[in-house]
Amino acid sequence: MTDRKKITIRTLFDKVEEGEPISWLTCYDYPTAYFQEEAGIEMILVGDSLGMTMLGYDSTLPVTMDDMIRHTQAVRRGAPTAFVVGDMPYMAYQPSNEDAIRNAGRFMADAETDAIKLEGGAEMAERIRAVRNAGIPVVGHLGLTPQSVAALGGFRVQGRGAQQAKKIIDDAKALEEAGAFAILLEMVPDRVCRIITERANECIILSLGSGPYAHGQLLIFHDMFGLYPKFKPRMAKVYGNAGEVLLNGLKQYNKEVKASSFPQQENWFTMKDEEYEELLKLLGR
Ligand code: KIV
Repeated sequence: MTDRKKITIRTLFDKVEEGEPISWLTCYDYPTAYFQEEAGIEMILVGDSLGMTMLGYDSTLPVTMDDMIRHTQAVRRGAPTAFVVGDMPYMAYQPSNEDAIRNAGRFMADAETDAIKLEGGAEMAERIRAVRNAGIPVVGHLGLTPQSVAALGGFRVQGRGAQQAKKIIDDAKALEEAGAFAILLEMVPDRVCRIITERANECIILSLGSGPYAHGQLLIFHDMFGLYPKFKPRMAKVYGNAGEVLLNGLKQYNKEVKASSFPQQENWFTMKDEEYEELLKLLGR
């Protein structure tokens, strides 16, 4: 384990002040969290994208709070000093302020998150204010918001037209005024992201496919390492093909078992001859 000090909101704002971009990745399990912590990644998002990347659903909509809590607990165990953000799943906050506060509270109390994230523009300002007033830090999420992908017409860039871009800029201000300490901009044009970053006062702007002008960057871990076979978004940079390494290893294992070349002596355990003789006697052989 690293000897890094716990990353807090203060640490994140200090980085913004010093002009040091913040690194943020999704993560859903203990071993990956361990490696992310070791690598010095500052923020971790336990995204409801786990519905697709880990549970095999076609969208994030079936993910439950119980799914999120289980995975977030594992991540926290692997990354004790990272700033962990729990992603509020579909219908965990949309129905009412009470739902939003209760479910955000579960993330904080049961999974030791540092903050929660919820999707939506000005229409979600009331929810953000309620959760914030309950003492829970909130990250907003604008642009492509996967829980509304049907209404948005699919996984596509948001805010390419001036009118829509203006709405995203206004939404960002509304979220900041409601108390969001950070906002994720997903698949928004770089120049729109730059305007939002320039206008942010007490708010950290983070980019997923929205260009370099934010205070930090987010990537989906599974896209970085070829671990989501169904689809790779254009914005994702691939840092290694772990999927290919796994597939080749699995094919090799299968071949070796069929050829009886696995296991070898070092892959099994033995017992002493005298114990074996004794065993045969006990069995009457
Ligand atoms: O669930 C998730 O991982 C997310 C990202 C797509 C930003 O919300």
